[in-house]
Amino acid sequence: MAKLNPSFSKLKSEYLFSTIERKLSDVKKNFTSTRFLNFSIGDIALPLAPAIVKALCDAAEEMGTKQGLQGYPPTFGYPFLRAAIAEQEYRGLCIESDEIYISDGINSDAVNILDLLHPASQVGFLSPTYPAYLNSYLMSGRKKSLLIPCTEEQGFIPEPPKEHCDVLYLCTPNNPTGVAMTRSQLQAFVTYALEHEALLFIDSAYSCFVTSPDVPKSIYEIPGAHTCAIEWKSFSKSHGFTGLRCAYSVIPKTLKARLQGKKVAIHPLWEKRQAIKFNGVAYPIQKAAYAGLMPEGRAQTEKQVRTYLSCARQFKKGLLDLEQRCYGGVDAPYLWWKTPKEMSAWQFFDFLLEQCHLIAMPGIGFGPHGEGYVRLSTFSSEEEISLALDRLTTKVSPCILL
Ligand code: MLT
Repeated sequence: MAKLNPSFSKLKSEYLFSTIERKLSDVKKNFTSTRFLNFSIGDIALPLAPAIVKALCDAAEEMGTKQGLQGYPPTFGYPFLRAAIAEQEYRGLCIESDEIYISDGINSDAVNILDLLHPASQVGFLSPTYPAYLNSYLMSGRKKSLLIPCTEEQGFIPEPPKEHCDVLYLCTPNNPTGVAMTRSQLQAFVTYALEHEALLFIDSAYSCFVTSPDVPKSIYEIPGAHTCAIEWKSFSKSHGFTGLRCAYSVIPKTLKARLQGKKVAIHPLWEKRQAIKFNGVAYPIQKAAYAGLMPEGRAQTEKQVRTYLSCARQFKKGLLDLEQRCYGGVDAPYLWWKTPKEMSAWQFFDFLLEQCHLIAMPGIGFGPHGEGYVRLSTFSSEEEISLALDRLTTKVSPCILL
């Protein structure tokens, strides 16, 4: 009989996001008259911006004409989108359009990059952080990993490890804590990477939410990063593309690693990997992403980003007024809420669900250092957050929360 990948047995029986999706669907089926307020999965809450809808429709119509026929998209992305990203997102940061590779999401890029790594690489992962990195790493049969804690005592900011790592996955602003690293904190990781000849994989999915002046919007603002870092950015959260799928990897030509003893550039390997395993992102999606980078689309989507951040401020203030320990929400649309009364993350999840009909994300799903916290997504509305705070104030006895 055929044999399957034994590494699957190293994974938990159900993936965090699948558990939450299942619980959401059970709740909807079983309590049809209750209004549940969902602050769990970080998915958009506002409709697509008009400039993006127009670009999608125009591109589809264009494809229905003889002159506008489009077949397979270029594997690394249409030149118009790669150039617009270089110009709009990386102006002054020495990143060229051919160092930008369009994809269908950071999730794909962050797990597919493992194809390039030596099987014996030692890889460091933040705890807590987005769980797909470690899960896919384990699924690939790799074993050498190190957890880098982000604890309350450290303000949820990780420190470069004492041990040697070949690769470090960093997510900043971090999902789930919503806390972002400053220039000097990122500089410490770049210095570590240069000393250890390591690579940094930087997930910048939430960089569009950065408001703090000392937090960079790209790793390439940090001297030395062009020789040690790959950066991932996405249109999912900045432009409402969770359902459309468009993102990109930035791989500078100066980025090198060892292949059979020799130092070689990484981008030709990524190009080979993508050419073999990826067929590109659809034309209308790339046209829509392009529209989102142009002045009209940018103004509309930046307004949406401000709305989500204002929801974060509102929710955080409400929780702090209830004397809760709550972090994040300044540079990211996530709040990281310490569970009261030593409740575990899943106990507090159940408590919020049953007592207040609020759905959060249990912090433990993001790594062992997420135990004792829940994450709230503020991709939401002022009305929903007022209602949530109202339920917390009126339905829960203060002695439970304090
Ligand atoms: C989340 O809830 O963490 C996000 O929706 C995950 C993602 O962007 O894939």
